[in-house]
Amino acid sequence: MRMLMHLLFVMLGVVTSGLLVQTQFQSGFISIDCGLPEGKDYTEKSTGINYISDTNFIDSGVSKMVSNEDKITHQQQFSYLRSFPNGMRNCYKISVTSGIKYLIRASFLYGNYDGLNEPPQFDIHLGSNLWDTVKLTNASQSSYRELMHTPTLNYVHICLVNTGNGIPFISAIEFRNMDFNNVYETSGATTLARLAGLDFGSFTNLTYRYMDDFHDRLWEPYSNDQWTQLHNPISNDLRSNDYELPISVILTAATPRNANGVSLDFYFDALNETTQQRSYFFLHFAEVQKLAPNETREFNIAINGEYFYNLLLTDHFVLTIPYSSPENVFYKKNNISLVKTEASKLPPIINALEIYQAKDFSQLETQEDDVDAITNIKKVYRVAQNWQGDPCAPVAYMWEGLNCNFNGTPRITSLNLSSRGLTGHIAVYISKLTKLESLDLSNNSLIGEIPVFLVENLPSLRVLNLQNNNLTGLIPNALLQKSSEGVLSLRLGQNPNLCESGPCDQQTKDKSKENNPVIYIIASVSAFLMLLLVVLAAVNIIHIKKRKLKDDVYIHMESGDPLESKRRQYSFDEVVNMTNNFEKVLGRGGFGTVYYGIIDDIPVAVKMLLQSSVQGYQEFLAEVKFFMRVHHRNLTSLIGYCNEDDNIGLIYEYMANGNLNEHLSGKTTRKKFLTWEDRLQIAVDVAQGLEYLHSGCKPPIIHRDVKCTNILLNENFQAKLADLGLSKSFIFSGDTHVSTMVAGTPGYLDPEYQTSNKLTEKSDVYSFGVVLLKIITGEAAAASKAHNNAHISQWVGSVVARGDIERIVDPSLEGDFDIYSAWKAVEVAMACVSISSKERPYMRDVLVELKECLAVELARKNGAKDSNELVTMNPVTEISPIAR
Ligand SMILES: *[C@@H]1O[C@H](CO)[C@@H](O)[C@H](O)[C@H]1NC(C)=O
Ligand SMILES: *[C@@H]1O[C@H](CO)[C@@H](O)[C@H](O)[C@H]1NC(C)=O
Ligand SMILES: *[C@@H]1O[C@H](CO)[C@@H](O)[C@H](O)[C@H]1NC(C)=O
Ligand SMILES: *[C@@H]1O[C@H](CO)[C@@H](O)[C@H](O)[C@H]1NC(C)=O
Ligand SMILES: *[C@@H]1O[C@H](CO)[C@@H](O)[C@H](O)[C@H]1NC(C)=O
Ligand SMILES: *[C@@H]1O[C@H](CO)[C@@H](O)[C@H](O)[C@H]1NC(C)=O
Ligand SMILES: *[C@@H]1O[C@H](CO)[C@@H](O)[C@H](O)[C@H]1NC(C)=O
Ligand SMILES: *[C@@H]1O[C@H](CO)[C@@H](O)[C@H](O)[C@H]1NC(C)=O
Repeated sequence: MRMLMHLLFVMLGVVTSGLLVQTQFQSGFISIDCGLPEGKDYTEKSTGINYISDTNFIDSGVSKMVSNEDKITHQQQFSYLRSFPNGMRNCYKISVTSGIKYLIRASFLYGNYDGLNEPPQFDIHLGSNLWDTVKLTNASQSSYRELMHTPTLNYVHICLVNTGNGIPFISAIEFRNMDFNNVYETSGATTLARLAGLDFGSFTNLTYRYMDDFHDRLWEPYSNDQWTQLHNPISNDLRSNDYELPISVILTAATPRNANGVSLDFYFDALNETTQQRSYFFLHFAEVQKLAPNETREFNIAINGEYFYNLLLTDHFVLTIPYSSPENVFYKKNNISLVKTEASKLPPIINALEIYQAKDFSQLETQEDDVDAITNIKKVYRVAQNWQGDPCAPVAYMWEGLNCNFNGTPRITSLNLSSRGLTGHIAVYISKLTKLESLDLSNNSLIGEIPVFLVENLPSLRVLNLQNNNLTGLIPNALLQKSSEGVLSLRLGQNPNLCESGPCDQQTKDKSKENNPVIYIIASVSAFLMLLLVVLAAVNIIHIKKRKLKDDVYIHMESGDPLESKRRQYSFDEVVNMTNNFEKVLGRGGFGTVYYGIIDDIPVAVKMLLQSSVQGYQEFLAEVKFFMRVHHRNLTSLIGYCNEDDNIGLIYEYMANGNLNEHLSGKTTRKKFLTWEDRLQIAVDVAQGLEYLHSGCKPPIIHRDVKCTNILLNENFQAKLADLGLSKSFIFSGDTHVSTMVAGTPGYLDPEYQTSNKLTEKSDVYSFGVVLLKIITGEAAAASKAHNNAHISQWVGSVVARGDIERIVDPSLEGDFDIYSAWKAVEVAMACVSISSKERPYMRDVLVELKECLAVELARKNGAKDSNELVTMNPVTEISPIAR
């Protein structure tokens, strides 16, 4: 019965491919030279294996070199090593493909790298399990450990653990894909230590590996006094089997030295009596001699005194016999005997043998989502202490500040980062630690609001300590409620700007920075409507794109733009990094919050959209990608975006001087006084941007939300239109308007659009007119109050009718402007805000007029006396060329 079982295991020399056929070179290989400096990757001369530096797999340890003598007597991967003088456990994290069987090899050569001539002893772990103890005795002898392992996660941790017997180090780590032809099947065991790969009868005494072995198993020569060598002189009639053994290994065999010898006997010591794991052998045979017809070679295999298998070698096919030791029986010494049968003319032979022993790798690794989350938290807060390898297991090396639950897959239940100098916001990654029961972030410098995910995503949270930080805003109600119900122990003291109920000090401060509370609220509501519109618009754009495929792409690329190479999608991690975990808030609006960030030393503004508005945004992102390619010097450039989980962000070029509104409204809060010339230049800039969208783009783009807060100023006070990604493009020809819901900002909104829902480029012209009136009059809000809340166009209109230009132009200019230029600007503005869109000019006309205004004002400043003369010249040709 047992024999039958074993027979089923036997792979009967199935011919697959010729032994020498090698198709993909080093596919499934990961070859890491530990300690090798970055950028020094190389191909090892004797094997042709490409080794890479380990710097991307570990962030601790120091690079060292073995002694010169040891350098020249070993393969190149042994020259460098990485040594770990600090920390109890140092870990490599290596990406692999889960579910694939790998041969994992760790190699060591001490080589007296530290000049102490004391080879150390230390432990090596794979993930959360002890792999082996590495005890080195000979400084000049390389040593290795091999595992046959199928990772369950898509990464593997290899850790070197200091056990107090010297400083751990490692020379090389290699992964080889063993997932071919279903070989090395072992009942039950998932992880095996490869104790030996023996090459019998070797004539060269060489250790074979890649390229002799396409799978880069190691084959060491083995012989003893009682044996002699046999060698097959003709290799081309040898047929491989599924194990794809190297020809140089299989061509030689051992046989009893004595011509009358009847048996080959050998034994090996199993590892670690304490754990008593099962052993697995793979015996490889192939006839090496040319047999006469009357010659036979037949023998029985007995293992530990028990008959196991009868073998009759007839031809030059490779035959592999796998053996697994019985369960619950452990032999320290394993005897293998090959005994000639009575009928056999020739003595037994054996060509190669592999010996494996199961490993007890029962300690599970921490749940992968928890690992991802805590790894991100480590990154965000730059946790400096020795957080390496698996966070929870083994328990002795659990990360400091964590606690875990070990019922089944380990889960993180407690996170304590108290007094660790944390800055920035409460990291969203904490919300991914879904089994968290206790969170202590006290005594740090955290800012921002208390996120509601602490309640929503962490149902098991029982302890929350955020005291002694710099958190702001309202405490989420749900948190207070849980606390009052006694479910949550909540500590929030010593956060001076935190408040329990509105109105919150901090919030009112924020609001007062915005222009007018009423407008602020309306803006948020309209922003919500805009979001809906954006989705509609996006559908429209996709439609257009299909139809316009053959059209010239209108996109303009400015050469030498330092941001050009940065335009792309960014991961949330990268956004966290560039904003230093959302450290600095630039502003808040209906869409979300804008943060300061840096990409490769270039400042950027990162607008994180409200999480509640994220649904249906795939179309939106298609539009964003589209707008990433629209460039004009008067449009704020969209550099990139982020779309990961619920985190949607837009990354814009940074505009150092904020928005136009901040420089126009309220004399006291005014940041910089804008002269008449400055104002005209800004108007021209904005007009150029708009004109480009309307006439320079195919299909034309309607901005839809032209207003002072959407006009941003860079360090040179050059104006650029913002929020481009939220506008809408459409085709003029045959489709002169698009019916949508009413959107835009009250006060700037085209009245015709409001009643008809027909959106044309003239809607932007109207909004621009309002902007221009605000630029001219200076203080929009106050002005409209002073005029019984009449729309700015109405009261300006009534003043114009009376010919009273001084009353229209911002009094703080104190008459320091050319009167003709001012009149003309007012005229242009009034034309733009005509009730009927037909009466409004096109942006190209507006631009011509405004440039003339500017030219006149410039001429006045430059001391030209007769402004009339100047008016007759053609301003368009005089102004520097328009960037497109
Ligand atoms: C150490 O190993 C080297 C190379 O295998 C060998 O030549 C030397 O004799 C060994 N030394 C000792 C003390 O075993
Ligand atoms: C191989 O090693 C054995 C014993 O270690 C030795 O007797 C034999 O001469 C060696 N053969 C070669 C070719 O070096
Ligand atoms: C043998 O197994 C025991 C129990 O798991 C372990 O404590 C010991 O370190 C192991 N020894 C070696 C050499 O692996
Ligand atoms: C086998 O046959 C050969 C001739 O082919 C002969 O010389 C030899 O003696 C035979 N050997 C035995 C053991 O019968
Ligand atoms: C293995 O062989 C040795 C002699 O070489 C013998 O003493 C021992 O009992 C054998 N073990 C088994 C399990 O057969
Ligand atoms: C967190 O650790 C600090 C010491 O670093 C300790 O005082 C505090 O009690 C811990 N918090 C929790 C919730 O265990
Ligand atoms: C707060 O943290 C600082 C270091 O960041 C430490 O020096 C101080 O003792 C801590 N205070 C408390 C009350 O834990
Ligand atoms: C807390 O934050 C405010 C701004 O929100 C800042 O002015 C203040 O300096 C911060 N205080 C500390 C102790 O970091």
